Amino acid sequence: MPDPRPVQEFQNDGGEQANLVEVTDVKKWFPVQKGFIASLLSRGHVDYVKAVDDVSFTIKRGEVLGLAGESGSGKSTVGRLVLRLLDATEGHVKVDGVDLGTLKREDLRKARSKMQVVFQDPLASLNPRMTVGQAIEHPAQIHLPDTTFEERKQLVFELLEAVGMSPPDFFYDKYPHQVSGGQRQRIVLARALITRPDLIVADEPIASADVSVQALLLELMIKLKEEFDLTYLFITHDLATTKYICDRIAIMYLGKIVEIGLLTEVFNNPRHPYTRSLLAAVPVPDPRHRRTEPLPQGEIPNPINPPSGCRFHPRCPIAVEGVCDVEDPQMARTGASEDHFAACHLRTGAYQHLDRRPT
Ligand SMILES: Nc1ncnc2c1ncn2[C@@H]1O[C@H](COP(=O)(O)OP(=O)(O)OP(=O)(O)O)[C@@H](O)[C@H]1O
Ligand SMILES: [Mg+2]
Repeated sequence: MPDPRPVQEFQNDGGEQANLVEVTDVKKWFPVQKGFIASLLSRGHVDYVKAVDDVSFTIKRGEVLGLAGESGSGKSTVGRLVLRLLDATEGHVKVDGVDLGTLKREDLRKARSKMQVVFQDPLASLNPRMTVGQAIEHPAQIHLPDTTFEERKQLVFELLEAVGMSPPDFFYDKYPHQVSGGQRQRIVLARALITRPDLIVADEPIASADVSVQALLLELMIKLKEEFDLTYLFITHDLATTKYICDRIAIMYLGKIVEIGLLTEVFNNPRHPYTRSLLAAVPVPDPRHRRTEPLPQGEIPNPINPPSGCRFHPRCPIAVEGVCDVEDPQMARTGASEDHFAACHLRTGAYQHLDRRPT
């Protein structure tokens, strides 16, 4: 179990700030499609891509949880599971206390109006034949059927103002190809807000924008969070951006969360060697800065057949033979904070005496 604290305990701490999202022991295994001959040869044996393999975490209401890791580590799959755009193979996802896996179609539709997603590529998210006004209004037609067109138009104007697309009537009748990439992502954010969601899963929301626009979009997301009382799951492969927006951060590697904690804790005192090497790769403006941690060696392994023991051990600079390649490390409390957990034999487990490196 990646996170050793039961969900109930998370709910009780922190006082007034309740959990909006509770993900408990969730797995998502995708069956690997085989050709006819390969199926015959394997005699019905099915391989699985273990995209998410036993993941637990919570997000408090009003919090921004970052989810970071290399490509293919399972971040987007976690995002889709949280929104129930995918059904979990095992485990539970609760949003606002409701287990999404138990909801029937109509209740799920209602629950979905409280959760929205923002993807990396706004051009792919927007219908090229819908004007900006139609695109933003569209979710309201589905989720707010009792509103009139005029009321919805008023809402669209307010949201265009809120995302900095001013004056709104200038943009209302434009098509996505008539505005810039950064403005398209603002439109996607406005569309996400029209149903007044509690939760936004933002999957690499600024990755496709210009560097100069990225900072503005991050600023906008922070402003919108305050104005609309939002909670974010902020998915990124770029640790550098998390420090501007995230309160807590979870680091994923090959389908598992290997470290989770307050952003300041994880950045200042990273416990897992994978986190340390990701942080070492974050560029810093100081030219005197020297890398102290080697980057992970080699490619991320195949999630169909992950390495034995700790999945990171073949790339880990401190792995100990006979331990790290044998036993799967469990998440355990680490560091100075109550809420800092990592899964590393040498940093949290019974084998800490084998760690010869400074912490
Ligand atoms: N529908 C699917 N069917 C089969 N395998 C899938 C499916 N969706 C994702 N995967 C696999 O699951 C693993 C995790 O994918 P996912 O997209 O969640 O990673 P990610 O961390 O978001 O990567 P990236 O940073 O590139 O977006 C990958 O090996 C991917 O190939
Ligand atoms: Mg992804």
